[in-house]
Amino acid sequence: MVRVLSKLNCCIVFFLFFFLVHVYAGDVVDYGRSSSIIITSERLSRLDFPPDFVFGAGSSAYQVEGAAAEDGRKPSIWDTFTHAGKTPDKGTGDIAADQYHQYKDDVKLMHKMGLDAYRFSISWSRIIPDGRGAVNPKGLNYYNNLINELVSYGIEAHVTLSHFDIPQALEDEYEGLLSPKFIEDFTAYVDVCFKEYGDRVKSWMTFNEPNALTLGGYDMGMMPPGRCSYPFGVSNCSKGDSTTEPYVAGHNILLSHAAAVHLYRTKYQEKQKGQIGITLLAFWFEPMTNSPQDVAASKRMLDFHIGWFLDPLVHGNYPAIMRKIVGSRLPNFTKNDLKHLKGSFDFIGLNQYSAFYIKDLPRRSDDQYGSDYVRDVSVTGLYENGMLAKDFTRFLIADQKAGEGWPVTPWSIQRVLDYMKLKYKNPASVIHENGYAMTDNDLSNPPTRNDTERIEFIQAYIAALLPSIRNGSNIRGYFVWSFLDCFEVAGGYTNHFGLYEVDFKNKERRRYPKQSVQWYTNFLAKTGKKNRSTGSLYSE
Ligand SMILES: *[C@@H]1O[C@H](CO)[C@@H](O)[C@H](O)[C@H]1NC(C)=O
Ligand SMILES: *[C@@H]1O[C@H](CO)[C@@H](O)[C@H](O)[C@H]1NC(C)=O
Ligand SMILES: *[C@@H]1O[C@H](CO)[C@@H](O)[C@H](O)[C@H]1NC(C)=O
Ligand SMILES: *[C@@H]1O[C@H](CO)[C@@H](O)[C@H](O)[C@H]1NC(C)=O
Ligand SMILES: *[C@@H]1O[C@H](CO)[C@@H](O)[C@H](O)[C@H]1NC(C)=O
Repeated sequence: MVRVLSKLNCCIVFFLFFFLVHVYAGDVVDYGRSSSIIITSERLSRLDFPPDFVFGAGSSAYQVEGAAAEDGRKPSIWDTFTHAGKTPDKGTGDIAADQYHQYKDDVKLMHKMGLDAYRFSISWSRIIPDGRGAVNPKGLNYYNNLINELVSYGIEAHVTLSHFDIPQALEDEYEGLLSPKFIEDFTAYVDVCFKEYGDRVKSWMTFNEPNALTLGGYDMGMMPPGRCSYPFGVSNCSKGDSTTEPYVAGHNILLSHAAAVHLYRTKYQEKQKGQIGITLLAFWFEPMTNSPQDVAASKRMLDFHIGWFLDPLVHGNYPAIMRKIVGSRLPNFTKNDLKHLKGSFDFIGLNQYSAFYIKDLPRRSDDQYGSDYVRDVSVTGLYENGMLAKDFTRFLIADQKAGEGWPVTPWSIQRVLDYMKLKYKNPASVIHENGYAMTDNDLSNPPTRNDTERIEFIQAYIAALLPSIRNGSNIRGYFVWSFLDCFEVAGGYTNHFGLYEVDFKNKERRRYPKQSVQWYTNFLAKTGKKNRSTGSLYSE
């Protein structure tokens, strides 16, 4: 990863320079390949957005909480993976940003920033340590305290029920997501969450980025549970089958999601009046040329990336091209499955960072090893900056969320929203992640609290939402990834996405505001439309 990134740096620096020149050149500029309009920060504030549009920032349990073995929490597959030294920097989430102990101070910082909402996730093995059965009161209590703290400042809790960290006990017992037994255990777990927290939590997400988890965990072996089969993984995994398991895991995620939504709708929603959805990683894929092959390849890529999970939810089946290519390796939905699957969401979360240009890669069918997701989709990808990937996923996984290599493509968020409108009946959507990383490895651009690039990135993407809203896209909210520096899923402690810096070298894990905190605070302060009087509970 480091090697890939360092190759990218020169291009990125040039690209950002190019971008800054354009943004500061005037109020309204044409940007790159798109005709989108970028508005300078002086002219952009939340007043430009509908009054009920939600602005927030996010995190996830394993990435910020720490206290991994405290108060009865047992391991998730992430603990096992990091303790086996499988992350690039050998980091673990044992302490992470220590939010488990510092949540009160963090909520104060959120309030000072003017966030409407905080997106966080619940650690399943903190509240049900063995994955099913006994509930851990201390674990339950932590989230009650966090939610109460948020509510006392008028900050909405937007809660992800499963953000990659499946209990290790279920992995040991029946290989977690690979077994249909998972569905029942997941449903019992979310039942506890709805029952305990649903009076205060009005926005639930079942899974975060199932399209990354299936690929990283079951095809490439780069994410927990680290399964893959030769020659498909990025390393030799001790277990797995890359040709089938990503699709089986994805299928069980969809059925678990549908069961959770069904439970919420029949048992809780009427009374609690919340909403429930799922959050997908949502890159945009533009054809590299106008050739029919490349156009078809970019459509195929979108179907394998977004359609894999969204087609079943909206249209009731996997995309036709996936069924054709994956064939008998793709599980079928029964009539009974479909009863609860189709339409099982109130909103769709989108994690949107960037775009790729896609080129067709002729399919190989001659191989004794068969085909995995990568060969099934058979495309190659190109970043805006001209860096060619060997194939889409190998590059994506190697560089996942590494903002250092992320070109700034605010038009990609518009393309994704337009695609949701045209192909998926314009569901209510929320940008659940968007943000910019700086890495420790990049000497020309060391992490700094003077994070001009991050400000430019966030501003450009937020501004890009306005033409989409005017264009009829049903977009309801935007969350920066991340509220504070995290243990990153790719890159551990070498990638920093936070608005707040966390000093990971220091036991206290002190927080320091980067300049982007000031920018977001100013952006959010130009309001007056929302009654934030509950904020008076906090005075410095
Ligand atoms: C992985 O396994 C293959 C086949 O057994 C072998 O050729 C290759 O050298 C192994 N690679 C690593 C990194 O161990
Ligand atoms: C799903 O159904 C199709 C069409 O009936 C069939 O060809 C395919 O083999 C089935 N797949 C599985 C995994 O059963
Ligand atoms: C932050 O960096 C930008 C350019 O990278 C520079 O113009 C600005 O003066 C810096 N601000 C501070 C407070 O150092
Ligand atoms: C607005 O919608 C039209 C039709 O879907 C599309 O061609 C255009 O690119 C959209 N513009 C934006 C900014 O999304
Ligand atoms: C905000 O709400 C509080 C308590 O409900 C109320 O006393 C206050 O008048 C409201 N302020 C505005 C500006 O509406």
